[in-house]
This record gives sequence, C-alpha cells and structure tokens, in this order.
Amino acid sequence: MPVTILAIESSCDETAASVCVDGRILSNYIATQKVHEKYGGVVPELASRAHLQNIVPVVDLALKESGCSMQSLDAIAFTQAPGLIGSLLVGAQFAKSMALALDKPLIAVHHMQAHVLANLIPDDKPDFPFLCLTVSGGHTQIVLCTSPTTMKVIGETIDDAAGEAFDKTAKLLGLPYPGGPLIDKYAANGNPNRFAFPEPQIAGLNFSFSGLKTSILYFLQNAGSSNVFKEAFTATAEEKQRFIDENLADICASVQHRIISILINKVKKAAKETGIKDICIAGGVSANSGLRKALKETGDKMGWRTFIPAFEYCTDNAAMIAITAYYKFLQNDFVSLNISPSPRAAFDM
Ligand code: KG4
Ligand code: ZN
Repeated sequence: MPVTILAIESSCDETAASVCVDGRILSNYIATQKVHEKYGGVVPELASRAHLQNIVPVVDLALKESGCSMQSLDAIAFTQAPGLIGSLLVGAQFAKSMALALDKPLIAVHHMQAHVLANLIPDDKPDFPFLCLTVSGGHTQIVLCTSPTTMKVIGETIDDAAGEAFDKTAKLLGLPYPGGPLIDKYAANGNPNRFAFPEPQIAGLNFSFSGLKTSILYFLQNAGSSNVFKEAFTATAEEKQRFIDENLADICASVQHRIISILINKVKKAAKETGIKDICIAGGVSANSGLRKALKETGDKMGWRTFIPAFEYCTDNAAMIAITAYYKFLQNDFVSLNISPSPRAAFDM
C-alpha cells in the first residue's frame, strides 16, 4: 500500500503544505508573508496572525494540487521545532486537529533535520553517510547524516548564522529584509576581490560570523576614505551613502565571497576529518548562486559528489517536512496528540 502524507510547515514566516506519496512530492505549496518586509525582520505576532489566515487555503491548495483526498492520507506531519512559538503553534494545532478528525497518526518533525533531508527528495540521492552544510537564517551547521533517521551536528556557529550575516549586511546597506537574495543579485555584477573582509580563525568545525558583521559596519562608517576595518569613523552620512551607491555591487560581491569562503573552508575540513565524499547543502542560504557554484567547483576539485537541492527545497518549505515524515512513518515514529511545539529542541537523532 502506498504511504500518503500531508505535511505542514509554519516555523517562521512561510505557511507551507505538501503532500508526498512513498517519498515522492506531489505538491509543495508556500504562502510567503510580505508583511514583515518594512520592519527589517520577522515580527513574531504578525507571523502567527498571517499563519492563521493562510493555513486553511494553503493546506487546501496542497491537497488539490496533489489530487489526494483527505481520506486517502495515512498520516499528518508538522514542524514541531525549532521556530517562533506562536508560528509553530498554528501549524501544530492545525495538524493535531486534522489527525484527530480523520483518526490518522501524527508525525512531529524537526525543522533542521528536514532541511538536511531535502537532499533525499530528488532521484539522485547521496549515499550514507553524507555531510550536509545547513545554512539558514537562524542556523549554520555541518551535519553528519548516517541514515534518514540518524544525524549529528559536528560543527555549528558560535554566534550569528550565515543567513544573518547576509541579512545584517543588507540592512547596513539600506536594503529590505530578507537581504540575502538581494546581495546575491547585486553580487552577480560585482568584483569579489575588491574589498578584503577578514576571515575569522575559529577552532575545529565551528563557525563565527559576528566579527564579519562588525568589520562591515566599520568599513561602511569609514567609507570613502580607505578600505579600513577599524573603529575610526571618518565619513559623514552623505559620504557613506554615496560610497554605498557607487560601490554596491563590489561590496555585495566581496561580502558574499568572504561568507562563502568561511563556509567552504569548514566543509573541506569536515570532509578531510571524516573521509566522507558525499557532500550536500541545505537551508535558505543554499539558494545563493555563489555558494552553489563554489560547492560544485570545490567538489570537482576534491573528488566529492555534491548535492544541491532545487531552489524551492532550499528556503523553508513543507516538502522537506513531508520527506522526513515519510522516513519516520516507515519506523512507526508517531507522536500523541498531547505533544507541544518547542521553540528550541535538541537536534541529534
Ligand atoms: O531556511 P530559511 O528559508 O529560513 C530559516 O529557517 O531561517 O532561510 C532564510 C535565510 C535568510 O537569511 C535569507 O536571507 C537567506 O536564507 N537566503 C539567501 C538567499 N536566499 C535566501 N541568502 C543568500 N543568498 C540567497 N540567494
Ligand atoms: Zn529553515
């Protein structure tokens, strides 16, 4: 009998639903919340309200697109952690209500594990064990995945996430939230070697991005005088703005180049230490064209097989929740209706 799962994702500012049959994605519907743009970041209360408005039509559309009826579902899955608690609650309550009304089992999914398993959606899948660089707005991790239901974080950021580095740089440049995709766009026409931002020296497989953010802040505040990174503010607000306007593409390309080199150097180290040659990326920042190109080129040089999810499976989506739930279903890994969502949760499984 085929296994049909409806999955719901609502951990941050995307309301998403997906239906998969035997691990094959039949629909993947996402409603993006535009309401946050003018605030320069996600406003939790507004996110919860938007999820409430979106969830019924989004689930309805995902079911219709898949051609599956509610009665044909074998389980309902939802993102249980981590995320904004108000946002998680909307998806969790909706999934629980459906499971109760339809008398179907409920599957709780960890959002970060789901990002990793987005790499199991295409036919061309990595072999186990594989390494995954997961880079999103809230996380930067190197994950060692030994089976669809066993994985371990072997390196992570000690401060900001890579997505935050992109978004905070964009904010300093006066660009709207989320700034990652805009930096990617402007970087395409810039010189990545024009400005040399420093690379942090962090031991082991961990990352740090907060120093980079500070150096960009000082760099912009000293704009126009020279390519300096120390605290000696010389530029007026007008000079700073003119400098940004005249050099936007080169600044974006140079910052992006540094973020990518920090990420790729740690992946190289992890691959060397573990001897693993199947290397994946995941998470919103894996939509970055420079990172995708750099991973492919590094992989070709190092003799790795690299796996890069399609764009729609990089940023938050419910298809990744559905594929993770499918493997949990095969292990009878169900939860009771008493389960609560959690803004933070241990990762290893
Ligand atoms: O995985 P995701 O959709 O949500 C979280 O779980 O955080 O990741 C969102 C992050 C944001 O920081 C956004 O700026 C970044 O992914 N992002 C990008 C690109 N597309 C999304 N960063 C750089 N280049 C992109 N093309
Ligand atoms: Zn995410």
